[in-house]
Amino acid sequence: MQDRRPASAEPAVPIDPWDAPELTGWRRLPMHAVVRPDAPRVPLDGPWRFQLLPTPRTPLADRWSETDVPGCWTVQDFEDVHGVRDLPHYTNVTMPFPDLPPSPPAGRNPTGVYEREAAIPADWAGRRVVLHVGAAESVLIAHVNGTAVGVGKDSHLASEFDVTHAVRPGERNTVRLTVVKWSDATFLEDQDQWWHGGITRSVHLYATDPLHLADVGITAVPGGSLDVAVKVRGGAGALPAGWSVSGLLRTPDGILRLPADEAFAQANVASERVSDFLGEARIRATVPGVRPWSAETPHLYDLTVRLHRADGSVADESCHRVGFRRVEISGTDLLVNGVRVYFRGVNRHDFHPLTGRVVDAEEMRADLCLLKRHGFNAVRTAHYPPDPALLRLADELGLYVVDEADIETHDHAHELADDPRYLGAFTDRVARMVLRDRNHPSVVVWSLGNESDHGANHDAAAGWLRRTDPTRPVQYEGAIKDAWEEPQSASDIICPMYASIEEITAGPHSKPLILCEYSHAMGNSNGSLADYWRAIESTPGLQGGFVWEFRDHGILQRLTGDGAGRPAGPGAPADAYADGVTAPGYRWAYGGDFGDTPHDGAFCADGLVLPDRTPKPAMAEHREIAAPLRLELTPDRREARITNRQHFASLAWLSARWHIGDCGTAPARLPDLAPGESAVVPLPTSLLPHGDSHLTLRVTTARDLPWAPRGTLVCAPQVVLAEDHRDLLTRAGAVFAEDGAGAVRLDDAGLLRHPLLTAPPVLTLWRAPTDNDEWGGIAARWRAWGLHALERTLVSVGREGASVVVRSAYATDGAGTVGHEQVITPLADGGLLVDETAVLPDALTDLPRVGTVFETVAGLDTLEWFGRGPGETYPDRCAGATVGLHRADVDALFTPYLRPQESGGRHDVRRFTLTGAAAAPGIAVHLDVPRQVSVTRHRAAELTAAAHHDELVPRATCVVHLDAAHRGVGTASCGPDTLPAYRVGPGTHRWSWTLQPL
Ligand code: GAL
Ligand code: MG
Repeated sequence: MQDRRPASAEPAVPIDPWDAPELTGWRRLPMHAVVRPDAPRVPLDGPWRFQLLPTPRTPLADRWSETDVPGCWTVQDFEDVHGVRDLPHYTNVTMPFPDLPPSPPAGRNPTGVYEREAAIPADWAGRRVVLHVGAAESVLIAHVNGTAVGVGKDSHLASEFDVTHAVRPGERNTVRLTVVKWSDATFLEDQDQWWHGGITRSVHLYATDPLHLADVGITAVPGGSLDVAVKVRGGAGALPAGWSVSGLLRTPDGILRLPADEAFAQANVASERVSDFLGEARIRATVPGVRPWSAETPHLYDLTVRLHRADGSVADESCHRVGFRRVEISGTDLLVNGVRVYFRGVNRHDFHPLTGRVVDAEEMRADLCLLKRHGFNAVRTAHYPPDPALLRLADELGLYVVDEADIETHDHAHELADDPRYLGAFTDRVARMVLRDRNHPSVVVWSLGNESDHGANHDAAAGWLRRTDPTRPVQYEGAIKDAWEEPQSASDIICPMYASIEEITAGPHSKPLILCEYSHAMGNSNGSLADYWRAIESTPGLQGGFVWEFRDHGILQRLTGDGAGRPAGPGAPADAYADGVTAPGYRWAYGGDFGDTPHDGAFCADGLVLPDRTPKPAMAEHREIAAPLRLELTPDRREARITNRQHFASLAWLSARWHIGDCGTAPARLPDLAPGESAVVPLPTSLLPHGDSHLTLRVTTARDLPWAPRGTLVCAPQVVLAEDHRDLLTRAGAVFAEDGAGAVRLDDAGLLRHPLLTAPPVLTLWRAPTDNDEWGGIAARWRAWGLHALERTLVSVGREGASVVVRSAYATDGAGTVGHEQVITPLADGGLLVDETAVLPDALTDLPRVGTVFETVAGLDTLEWFGRGPGETYPDRCAGATVGLHRADVDALFTPYLRPQESGGRHDVRRFTLTGAAAAPGIAVHLDVPRQVSVTRHRAAELTAAAHHDELVPRATCVVHLDAAHRGVGTASCGPDTLPAYRVGPGTHRWSWTLQPL
């Protein structure tokens, strides 16, 4: 007999959406690519009532506080009524809690309840009303006027809910959004970044006609073929009769009217594919004379797709900027419009030092413009789909995008890749990204996610993707990591991370090789970027890579005096930081600084720019490596050859000037060259008799561009016309003192005393370890040898003619003794010539540096040097600097890497002066050969001891390092160590320098 008992008041199935991996959403609208800029809309950004609960089960209090949407509650200031104190927490691989998938912690699970009123216009009656929540992490539960309208997961894509049934047009309506921080989905979002909570992208309501566009899919290729697939639905399910679609394409010659494809409609009828509730239509056209889209030539055409009612009136409209371009793989080449392009890419997270993961369109534009100005042409959206605004900007400014699904199960990678409970979530996340983003020409490759091993769940997602979008390749690092060449369905590209030059050049490969991550930018890093590119540009099948990563994730922290403090948050004063440096009372926080545990320290500070987007020196390095043109001397050295290194553009967007020495300059005319072509141009003869022999072509933008004003530096290639072989004393303009005896003053320890020096020149083998030195385990060896605390013993002081010879021994910890000799000879002008020799025992196999350090008197604030500049350079990161005469404030030489470390070096320095106010004396130093030099306000020991910059007190004096040898910076914090050619080994090192008063 049938059970006729009444349904209970309880829900039919008691599901906690935060603990149900099979549930990816409930009543969420399918993702789509319809863009309705003109649809009636009620914006809901701004202040909302807010309560942060300790768990999703905690009852609401009577008292609400208030906070802004979008916003991460982890960095916002609000009245924490329930005392939850949920601050940013940084982990790399490790989950922030010990619970195992799929269940989140039951005890503490911060849950934000947001509530506000929305005034819905009376004329929305009869329309279809949709609630759009841009992004919420990690589970969103939406109510309108007390009715549950839907659930969404997937923290970096929007959730939309049809709320027509729940709203009351013409009245005030209450919208409540409950955001649960930890869930089954958190295990899929274990990316290397801060954990936050909140609603991180915009929220609004919009209205459409019940008859509406459900999706628009555009395929446009060079040659002008345009194919638009349209899906149509009716409000209550059934479609009204007589609807139709059309398109309008704006071209330079006027507006093209594009009718629906009748043949498609007839074929649907013939094959019985006509539905009562799903309308399908096509628009097909061939547009004459289209200019293809590429990152170098981002031509876009405005397309409007219209849905008409039976009477021809417009029911709905979707607006797109179409780029005609084709991506394909041919053998080991990934081709854009038939051309094998290079991917000069970077990995970009959504990050802001004040707002956490909330980034507005202007901030995104600033990110992308800065990248374009430094020669980047590609972005991997590590590790989740970006705000749609980012893709619109990439279309407009010209950047290739690898769009990545929000899947990283790092801590439980292997288990979840094959866990059927998560099968739906894997495919859902990939599918929703593709359905949203597929009309963007900038998106050239789909990525299935990051660091989640490789399992059937990936292959299922790849299968869905290949059927839905056959026009783009798919990549996934996890699928190739153990066997680059093996055929599998999840990656069309060999996209390893942090592979060495040796590994990538050990081909032949079966697919294009594009590193998904390389050149880890943590601290003072990015050594051998130029070596990578030499290999890439000379090895078939290699097409570039994506630097890890764009920005240091340092959160601005307001210090409270006890070494702790809260995030300064969106309300921080405008002067809380500038040029990468925090004001007193603030610091850039990294893992552990908010009491977060477990944590991974400063590993989140691994960007090419500091937290406030101040470029680190590696940006200039990249800009030069990516130069759109090459300059070289002809074999007879009488002329120059210029080559256009771009793929699609001419050199017409550039202008150039020759520069030599500190003031010689002459106009240069760039030849009209197609990509790949080169031409010989005359050298600027008017400049050539100049003393200096380094000729630079300074290339700038010839006109205002969307990403750079006219005159922005693009590259500055340099050629050397002749070498300077004069000896040290000749170059220094010095002669030996006639009566030298007694002019060299030593103290009892045999250390040189000189009126311009406050600390005598001594041997040093130590540098404040860089992040690469630390994470690569190299600094641990140096410490074990005691390089940071060598014990000096005076061996002898003697005379040889006018010179004083000081011999000393530096004792290491178990690695033998370093013998050191200084031969000091007085010069006529009160200066000195110092010839040094260091003999290092074989046990010291690998050293940070061998050189001299001394300190000057106070008041010397300006460095003028002849060598590489103007930016900071190291032996394996010096392509972005030209040799010449440069000048800078001593304070500005130092790069404030987030965690204090070796910084401020200048490579290939031949001579320098340090001067102060007119009355104060200065010093001049000449070096025997071009050497690594640094002048800073900090001793290496002080930099070594500090964990943050606010702990450092700049000295009034200058700490000057002259290095016989200095180890390259490499990338060992994640990836290959410094290449052997840039390491410093044992044996005999000799170097000479002069010190002269000015
Ligand atoms: C990669 C990972 C990135 C980041 C990087 C190190 O393994 O994909 O998310 O963790 O290493 O900074
Ligand atoms: Mg990871």
